[in-house]
Amino acid sequence: MMTANRTSGAWQAAFNRSIDDPQAFWSEAGAAIHWYKKWDKVLDDSRAPFYRWFTGGQLNTCFNALDWHVETGRADQTALIYDSPVSNQTKTFTYRELRDATSRFAGVLAQLGVGKGDRVVIYMPMVPEAVVAMLACARLGAVHSVVFGGFASRELAIRIDDAKPKAIVSASCGLEGKRILPYKPLLDEALRLAHHKPEKSIILQRPMEHAELVAGRDLDWNEAVAAAKPHDCVPVAATDPLYILYTSGTTGKAKGVVRDNGGHAVALKWTMKNIYGSHPGDVFWAASDVGWVVGHSYIVYGPLLHGNTTVLYEGKPVGTPDAGAFWRVISQHKVKTLFTAPTAFRAIKKEDPSLEFKRKYDLSNFKALFLAGERCDPDTLRWAASNLNVPVIDHWWQTETGWSICANCLGIEQLPVKPGSPTKPVPGMDVRVVDYRNQEVKRGDVDALVIKLPLPPGTFLTLWNNDEGFLKSYLTAYPGYYKTADAGYMDDDGYVYVMSRTDDIINVAGHRLSTGGIEEVLSSHPDVAECAVCGVNDELKGQIPFGLLVLKSGVQRDPGAIVSEVVQMVRDEIGPIASFKTAVVVQRLPKTRSGKILRGTMQKIANGDVYATPATIDDPAILAEIEAALAHCGYAKKHT
Ligand code: COA
Ligand code: AMP
Repeated sequence: MMTANRTSGAWQAAFNRSIDDPQAFWSEAGAAIHWYKKWDKVLDDSRAPFYRWFTGGQLNTCFNALDWHVETGRADQTALIYDSPVSNQTKTFTYRELRDATSRFAGVLAQLGVGKGDRVVIYMPMVPEAVVAMLACARLGAVHSVVFGGFASRELAIRIDDAKPKAIVSASCGLEGKRILPYKPLLDEALRLAHHKPEKSIILQRPMEHAELVAGRDLDWNEAVAAAKPHDCVPVAATDPLYILYTSGTTGKAKGVVRDNGGHAVALKWTMKNIYGSHPGDVFWAASDVGWVVGHSYIVYGPLLHGNTTVLYEGKPVGTPDAGAFWRVISQHKVKTLFTAPTAFRAIKKEDPSLEFKRKYDLSNFKALFLAGERCDPDTLRWAASNLNVPVIDHWWQTETGWSICANCLGIEQLPVKPGSPTKPVPGMDVRVVDYRNQEVKRGDVDALVIKLPLPPGTFLTLWNNDEGFLKSYLTAYPGYYKTADAGYMDDDGYVYVMSRTDDIINVAGHRLSTGGIEEVLSSHPDVAECAVCGVNDELKGQIPFGLLVLKSGVQRDPGAIVSEVVQMVRDEIGPIASFKTAVVVQRLPKTRSGKILRGTMQKIANGDVYATPATIDDPAILAEIEAALAHCGYAKKHT
């Protein structure tokens, strides 16, 4: 058996119990949640591999995140701190104030006919109203689907068509540094592109940008709230969906990850104490965006379920206004735990390598830094650890799992850190490393990272309206296991190392992107015959995409102009967040004799890594041409 080592210690005891007796383990965690009706069964495997947690139970996630705290002594404690250097304001909400704002907005949605099971798309910048809208959906038993603001209209339209929302909540603009980015034109274009037409949009007018409202369809947030009556929490089944969150798949079509109410509430509350070592009342800051899973789990639900104060930060680690932004927020709001992506720390390190800005602030409340979203390079981890005097914890997770798969669980037992490893599997996550025959491999061998079924509570139930896609993408390749699509290994001490993806997903500044999705956009250019997109290493963002284009025969246009056009197309169709800035025109793409494009080899060439000419290549001479073309763009630099 190749599970994490069965040694002594508190982590080991908790891990063993979670695997040997998951019913008892999660039943105990479930007791920390308020239920209208207790569950009949903790783990329901009657439809395996569609496992369900806490079947028969009834609860309301919003009640647990807000009302319960108001009723049990936290009414006047700060629930949410909105800190926005880009709009120059800070605003706080107590639990009572956040509950009241949420119940009123739930009243607005209810008035529009939104009820249990209806979907609501939320396309918002990092403003408190985004949190209110999410919680208001949960209050009604409606299913929210938050779409990250950095996605363009086409991506938004794809999500609207899949989720088929009754209403959309948006704002007049987002703020990126000093730039005002109008959201309404993007929303209008998405609504034009989408086949499904939601009945209503509710638009928050921000003072820096006025959005034109379409009469009869668009409502002004403030006017709607002023006219609304507060709405109470609606009991839902533990297994009812709480939200859909779309994430990149291997094609241009995003996958709608579905989370339930019961398992999610139980698991996230459990993680706050056990993984993050956080206590009710502590200030917890996830410097992410509500459009990502980290934002869902650790800006909104986790901290509020646990009675923490959560920070909603509308800004960047650098440039808003400087590389001291994180230290200012930690100091001003007495943040105890910060959670962000390694990219943010690379950005700070680049601008302020000796952390001069940090010296200006009192960081005495700061106790732990958690990093996730991408592989944490050991240099960044060591730099942060040696400068911060707090534990720096790399932890590994995915949109699908909703919380971490491997971590150093501060609330259970702090294990020694091994840079490059997100430590050991978290209780509930039975991680194994298997080969293509589904056999476990030796310690130290790199292969597919999988998790033995059933996944613990709080992980995804299925893909929205796509049970078949769920089985095919995640459960078929390794029967009995969930395929993470990450490759890595486990060392002799049971530490897990996550090395790379096994599919065409790349990770850009902690954001997950499908190279296949970008290729779909490039190939729609009229002059492009075929193309390939790979991720190249980037000092700041971890990876960035680059494209290779083969033009249709007879095309005489300036290749530079075509490159500019495809770069703009990716920006317009996927969004600026793709950070797609470079493409190069080549005569041919390297392929195997059976016609498969050798993306891995091109990626190695671009990164300047040593590569072997694949035995199956149809024309080995082409690799030198590719290398020359990439060198021309500043890639393919050999490591010294
Ligand atoms: N709405 C609209 N546009 C957005 C956006 C949003 N919510 N978020 C980002 N963008 C745009 C940016 O303005 C940028 O546009 P540009 O090409 O016109 O400059 C583009 O998308 C890329 O954004 P980003 O990847 O954030 O790069 P950046 O250069 O602006 O900032 C970092 C670099 C490292 C500072 C930034 O990526 C960062 O803070 N990363 C932290 C990681 C993180 O939060 N990950 C989330 C998962 S935990
Ligand atoms: P997302 O679904 O956007 O959270 O992206 C999940 C993917 O990010 C994972 O499958 C990994 O490839 C990568 N990832 C997240 N956290 C880590 C980590 N700590 N170490 C290595 N890779 C990570």
